[in-house]
Amino acid sequence: KNPVIFDTDPGIDDAFAIHHALYHLEINLIGLTTVFGNVPVETAAKNAKILVEMAGQDIPVFQGASGPLVAPHKGFPDFIHGADGFGDINLPDPKGSIEKTYAPQFIIDSVRKQPGEVTIIAVGPLTNLAMALRMAPDIAPLVKEVIIMGGAAKEYGNISAVAEANIFNDPHAADIVFRADWPMVMAGLDVTHQVILHRKEAEELAQKVPRIGGFLLDAADLYFKFYNGAFGIDGCYFHDPCATAYYVNPDLFGSIDAAVRVSCEGPAFGQTLIKPKGHPGPSTEWDGCRNHKILMQVKDAETKDEVLGTIA
Ligand code: BDR
Ligand code: CA
Repeated sequence: KNPVIFDTDPGIDDAFAIHHALYHLEINLIGLTTVFGNVPVETAAKNAKILVEMAGQDIPVFQGASGPLVAPHKGFPDFIHGADGFGDINLPDPKGSIEKTYAPQFIIDSVRKQPGEVTIIAVGPLTNLAMALRMAPDIAPLVKEVIIMGGAAKEYGNISAVAEANIFNDPHAADIVFRADWPMVMAGLDVTHQVILHRKEAEELAQKVPRIGGFLLDAADLYFKFYNGAFGIDGCYFHDPCATAYYVNPDLFGSIDAAVRVSCEGPAFGQTLIKPKGHPGPSTEWDGCRNHKILMQVKDAETKDEVLGTIA
């Protein structure tokens, strides 16, 4: 099976996606790389290791970027994911340690070792990927596919009127990543806002598999409360699991082909700017950008079944 690197900032929805990946027989995880975002990068690395150990596995965890490339860091959303990234349930530290290799270096080494084979699934700010591209521009055409959770094509933003949080956290990095010569899939708010994990479904998972499901339910409590207050839903948007669901079953999604740039200033800071394939305008700012797959439709019930069924 093709190797997969999972880049993440766990994070509640990250935790669902990581457990989906850890338990799915078709996902050959070779490493988790971590980035600042929902929490500081040290916490993200610790949390990734906790999740790996919870699943009784031994996949290496690498620590990466602690802040954005250029823009000032805007802070951590502890009111959404908790200061510990798991809804303030304060789990004990993992037993094992974090690898010494810097996350972008692990990405570079893995891609060079298996050219054309590695898929990167990235569900946090894209800083580690941009760093890897800056450190080793040769790797882009050697990567099989990059699947991200981030951005919004036609949907409004979730951190500003127009920006999605992962892109907003490091728009310069995202712009580097979208312009690189590798095939990308963008699972943005256009699809993730159609996939709502209801509290009832998390409770059912906890009944079926009390150890993992119980942890996810406890961790998600704060997240559900945030979404209830902000968006009026009894549950949460199932953002990051859309990326792993796409990896195992792309047929769950419909897409358009488009080039993407990212706005790095002003009111559009962090907005993904979409140029659909064949658009007649001159649009020179998109010259040299290849087309990526932008997910626009999703079979929501099947996507949740895929993720929750695998964990169960
Ligand atoms: C994204 O931002 C983070 O808070 C979530 O983990 C997800 O990756 C949603 O905008
Ligand atoms: Ca995330």
